[in-house]
Amino acid sequence: MMSNKSSIANHRAAAWVNEMAALCQPAAIHWCDGSDAEHQTLCDLMVRSGMLTKLNEKLRPGSFLARSHPSDVARVEDRTFICWQTPREAGPTNHWADAAQMKQKLLGLFKGSMEGRTMYVIPFAMGPLNSPICKIGIEITDSPYVVANMRIMTRMGQAVLDKLGAEGAFIPCLHSVGAPLRPGQKDVPWPCEPDPKNKYIVHFPDEPSIWSYGSGYGGNALLGKKCLALRIASVVAWRQGWLAEHMLVLCLTSPAGKRHYLAAAFPSACGKTNLAMMQPTLPGWKVTTLGDDIAWIRIGKDGQLYAVNPETGFFGVAPGTSMKSNPNAMAACARNTIFTNVVLTPEGDVWWEDMGVPPPKRGIDWQGNEWTPDSGRKGAHPNARFTAPVSQCPVIDPDWQNPDGVPLSAILFGGRRPHTIPLVNEAFDWEHGVFLGSACGSETTAAALGQAGVLRRDPFAMLPFCGYHMGDYFAHWLSFTQRTDRAKLPKVYFVNWFRKGADGKFLWPGYGENARVLKWICERVEGAGKAQKTPIGNLPTPDALDLTDLRLPEENVKDLLALDVEGWKKEVADVEASYARFDGHLPKALRDQLDGLKKRLAEVGH
Ligand code: GTP
Ligand code: SPV
Ligand code: MN
Repeated sequence: MMSNKSSIANHRAAAWVNEMAALCQPAAIHWCDGSDAEHQTLCDLMVRSGMLTKLNEKLRPGSFLARSHPSDVARVEDRTFICWQTPREAGPTNHWADAAQMKQKLLGLFKGSMEGRTMYVIPFAMGPLNSPICKIGIEITDSPYVVANMRIMTRMGQAVLDKLGAEGAFIPCLHSVGAPLRPGQKDVPWPCEPDPKNKYIVHFPDEPSIWSYGSGYGGNALLGKKCLALRIASVVAWRQGWLAEHMLVLCLTSPAGKRHYLAAAFPSACGKTNLAMMQPTLPGWKVTTLGDDIAWIRIGKDGQLYAVNPETGFFGVAPGTSMKSNPNAMAACARNTIFTNVVLTPEGDVWWEDMGVPPPKRGIDWQGNEWTPDSGRKGAHPNARFTAPVSQCPVIDPDWQNPDGVPLSAILFGGRRPHTIPLVNEAFDWEHGVFLGSACGSETTAAALGQAGVLRRDPFAMLPFCGYHMGDYFAHWLSFTQRTDRAKLPKVYFVNWFRKGADGKFLWPGYGENARVLKWICERVEGAGKAQKTPIGNLPTPDALDLTDLRLPEENVKDLLALDVEGWKKEVADVEASYARFDGHLPKALRDQLDGLKKRLAEVGH
């Protein structure tokens, strides 16, 4: 078989690649070095095969558009599996499968799956190469689109092989779109397995290894992201005493120059990218970005929690991103960006819903069809995305690649909650904070296949990403009071930008205005900032939030900060129902938190 590398220093890597090549039967093997020349060659190849459209070099330099198959537009949670020895270890929130049986199934699927295609070998690192937390993976894929995306999203190529050396360990990640090309068969623009029931995103945490078959999209295929940096890393973190979380990391600097690092966990498509790089509307306040999706958090030498973003790119939701809502994301994807499932304009640029500019009179929609604004359908898929380098974000934080991470002042949880949940709520202490995280819920979004807009419990925004039993995960979070001085732990908050009024409209303007909430959080961290103790947590007093020049109707503010006792009683019942699935594996501290909340709510009732 043709390969561009005759020898590789790491014998285990070489042997594994050979073994997988024998299984998948590709026409050629290409070891990726991550160079510009390689990137150019791959993009040219994809333009020729119809997988990519080159965008106008003047309007969108170095950028491309891809259109995926309509069956392959989001993560497939019901096809995602965690193969522990026993179902107990995977827990009730994961799809468990027997490791040996699943391996047999996968060996059958991967057999000959890369026929007629090139097998790309992608050495990649999650976390800065010089960080003690850095993890190396090798992804084998038959998708050049995956290679081009991994080059943006991870540290990829020769430098990683150099670090790996002859003896270094790596996490094997095998990926195939599951569409072998028979001799003479014409390729399609987006090859994949069209049958949703035949896609498999599989994790073997004991090995550890990742096998992904049938999808070429996002977290299903870019295996460094959700598969390695969350599902596998969450298990490693549990064993080693740290945390791998679905969190953005930002730095908020006050007009006086005081800095606070915050991490925030919101479910998919609930505002992490937007908050991570928001432009505060409050004069003199500044946000700088460290990451928009994943944080690896360790206890530092001084006992504080330090966060590192393991990624190097943004895989951001395009629809809704505009110069008004997120100018820094717009700047980040102004060049060297891969767009997936957006509208192509006649000028060779991109467009999507709520981009803040008029739509083209006619364009090509995400499915490749002629499209006009009055065609009655969306031009971009709701989960259309841009893949852009973090380094292109105008407000990137100077410490974003600091191998030791940044010390966290506060951790935020949130979700899309049209009712009941106030704009911001401060946990009484760490245990109460863990309770708020465990009770996290949100309306579902287009980021995963399935119905959008229904409330589901998504503890810590990790429901689709926790690689082990969620009850053990809660216990792990609770254990941090024993791992470090409680006073050094970040304060915990629950925020909700998505509260709606009776008219169905958002009560809170969101985006850059969220700085007003972050400011209050920082004031609280510093021991100032006014709050009132309520049954659900510490809420800002009516005058505590800086609402200067906001011109928000007073009723909105009142509603946003009101304690809805009846709503909370329903909330408690729903959380209790969601706890039931953890059976004997719910930590007692959380049961106590729930009982305490119930009691406090009953007392206001009288
Ligand atoms: P993933 O990449 O899927 O993990 O999503 P994310 O959490 O990074 O979400 P993102 O920031 O991309 O936002 C998703 C959607 O929520 C976009 O359509 C945004 O316009 C919208 N959104 C983000 N922040 C706000 C906000 O403060 N208020 C309102 N109303 N909408 C928001
Ligand atoms: C999410 O769904 O939370 C994402 C997009 O960040 S994906 O990488 O596809 O998981
Ligand atoms: Mn995400």
